[in-house]
Amino acid sequence: MKSFLLIHFILLIGGVCFTQKNECPILPTPNVFQIKNSTLQFIGLNPEFPVNEEGLSTAFQRISQLYFNKNIITESGQKVSFQKLINVPQESYSIEIGSEIRIQYADFNGAIYALNSLFQLAKINQNGQIEIPACYISDAPRFTWRGLHLDVSRHFFTVDEVKKFIDMMAVYKFNTFHWHLTDDQGWRIEIKKYPKLTEIGAFRNRTVNNHYATTPRTWDSTRYGGYYTQDQIREVVKFAKERGVTVVPEIEMPGHARAALAAYPEYSCTGIQHDVEGLWGVFDDIFCAKSETISFLQEVLSEIIPLFPDKYFHIGGDEAPKTRWKQCSRCQSVIQENGLKDEHELQSYFIQKMDKFLLENGKQLIGWDEILEGGLSPNAAVMSWRGMDGGLEAAKQGHFVVMSPGSHCYFDHYQGRGHNEPLAIGGFTPLEKVYDFNPIPEKMNAQEAGFVLGAQGNLWTEYIGSFDKLMYMAYPRAIALSQTLWTSKKPEYDDFLYNLQESHFPRLKQWRVNYSVTAFAPILRTVRTESGVDVQVVSKFKGREFIIETKSFKRGKKRGKSNGLVYNSKEIKGLKMNSHKALGAFIQFKTPPNTRYNAGDLVLLDGQLGARPWKGHEWLGFDTTVIEFDVILSKKTNVKFIEISFLKDAGSWIHLPETIEISTIDNDDKKTVKVTAEKMKVNWKVNNTQKIHLKIQALKTIPNGLPGEGHAPWTFIDEIIVK
Ligand code: ACM
Ligand code: ZN
Repeated sequence: MKSFLLIHFILLIGGVCFTQKNECPILPTPNVFQIKNSTLQFIGLNPEFPVNEEGLSTAFQRISQLYFNKNIITESGQKVSFQKLINVPQESYSIEIGSEIRIQYADFNGAIYALNSLFQLAKINQNGQIEIPACYISDAPRFTWRGLHLDVSRHFFTVDEVKKFIDMMAVYKFNTFHWHLTDDQGWRIEIKKYPKLTEIGAFRNRTVNNHYATTPRTWDSTRYGGYYTQDQIREVVKFAKERGVTVVPEIEMPGHARAALAAYPEYSCTGIQHDVEGLWGVFDDIFCAKSETISFLQEVLSEIIPLFPDKYFHIGGDEAPKTRWKQCSRCQSVIQENGLKDEHELQSYFIQKMDKFLLENGKQLIGWDEILEGGLSPNAAVMSWRGMDGGLEAAKQGHFVVMSPGSHCYFDHYQGRGHNEPLAIGGFTPLEKVYDFNPIPEKMNAQEAGFVLGAQGNLWTEYIGSFDKLMYMAYPRAIALSQTLWTSKKPEYDDFLYNLQESHFPRLKQWRVNYSVTAFAPILRTVRTESGVDVQVVSKFKGREFIIETKSFKRGKKRGKSNGLVYNSKEIKGLKMNSHKALGAFIQFKTPPNTRYNAGDLVLLDGQLGARPWKGHEWLGFDTTVIEFDVILSKKTNVKFIEISFLKDAGSWIHLPETIEISTIDNDDKKTVKVTAEKMKVNWKVNNTQKIHLKIQALKTIPNGLPGEGHAPWTFIDEIIVK
């Protein structure tokens, strides 16, 4: 459609001054941004679109409405010219802003990204006028798969909420929405041939309260659920397409199938009907590998495939225990008839059936990295979540890969240290860690790297029961990820922080996105001093660090609670210092903590006990069976007792150790005690010692019946109090 309205720009000479930090407010950061020494006063637009570019004119009006909340098309002014280029990278664009605006673009996505970049440059001046700095931008994405995932099974999100989620994705130039539509706790897509999938499978009668590892467990017995009709799915797919976003559906198999099997138990191994699950976790009842189940699933896929016009189809494939398959005569005969070695090869056989079926129907299969086990199906792409090794292996075998490691891409993890963070599944994935993520691991060579399509942030929703909480967990971490996905020339993290606070938070607020400011919340930092520790309140306002307040704590002094460090944050109000004789002392490790959980030896002697429930920090985590280290005191000291605190979190494979052995080098007063509680006070009267030797014996393996049974447990320690 050709527009006959006019545009108007006034070229202001001189213009606003952009400081170094603020030079480019666009996120993700464009590859080339050359600022000119002038500013356009922006009164309105009248773009001229090539008539053959379908939907661009509508997209233009929508995006300008989004940013300016009003019609910005006026009758006078200069034109914005749009020119489509051939033989340029997909999704690329350039913008030249001078006395007029010239946009060149590769395709629809390139054009809408140009508009997003253009409008992100806009600033309101003191007179309430919109200004855009004159500049030149040349831009193209680093990766082709720039994804966010949303689990609508554990908690359901309405069509409008899903649309809003996608709308925000498009602003940050994400192009792939991975829609996790089925899991143990709910089947969320209408299948006309199998209506019980939603009649029964879309609703559960109870949901576990609190963190699922909390004992004793309690339940919310409100019936919970929902699903999307096929028409609604089409509506969302269309909505996404208009924003340059591809929708990849996920139908989980053979695991995470309890909701489907509640509706059709005949497709399990036992045939026993269980309820739709209300607990979080991994469950033994999975789809049976018999031919009837495979036919059933292929019929289900047949209804879903036409709803999603794009190439990839996700079949899950993760966390499928083989317990039932081992005991099932039908599964065992499939193994025998097909000459398979074991249940892993049976899983591979199962996935290959789906791979072939999808290929025949014009789709490419993608699955979680467990689909490597038992042999990767010929056409499968791999989504690597248990670290990046699965992705590396798949790339070595010449398969496409999407990196989504739990360590950096799981936005259901905690993002902050504060005790006021809302309940999350666990883990610790702060903004800075996401910002530092690189989807190409160091050990990958160039050829292998060529198979990495990109990366994806995942929003599993066991602990995300509302849209506001969803956005809180997603933003701004998703923006940090968009940087990595878009550009290989990321600005410094502090510049990114500045940009977020200066330019993006105000806009997110305008869009009513409940983003988290955790990355900017004051934190406590403990530093060693001659006589103990200083606890500082530190804030990173607009990327610059400020020490707001410092309080000194001396070794051995009795002060229990600080009432000096009161700042506008609960965590600091609640600061409890346990001053003791080893405050600020040093530790020499014989067996160091695992690098993932090693924030330095001071953690054990900083006077602050690790947070419970655990958030993956303020604790040192060990994965060795014996943990051995020396506490080096500042001078010879008389000791009465030592208190050591451990963490117990069976769901995270963290267990109490078996014994603690304390001795000295000076007078080898050895004492061994059995560990019976999370806090162990060991009376140990020794005079004039300066070096305390600790040897902690962990459990050899996790006991049967607990998560991770048979594996080595983790031991988490904090703090070691010496009195
Ligand atoms: C997963 O997080 N189970 C893919
Ligand atoms: Zn079976």
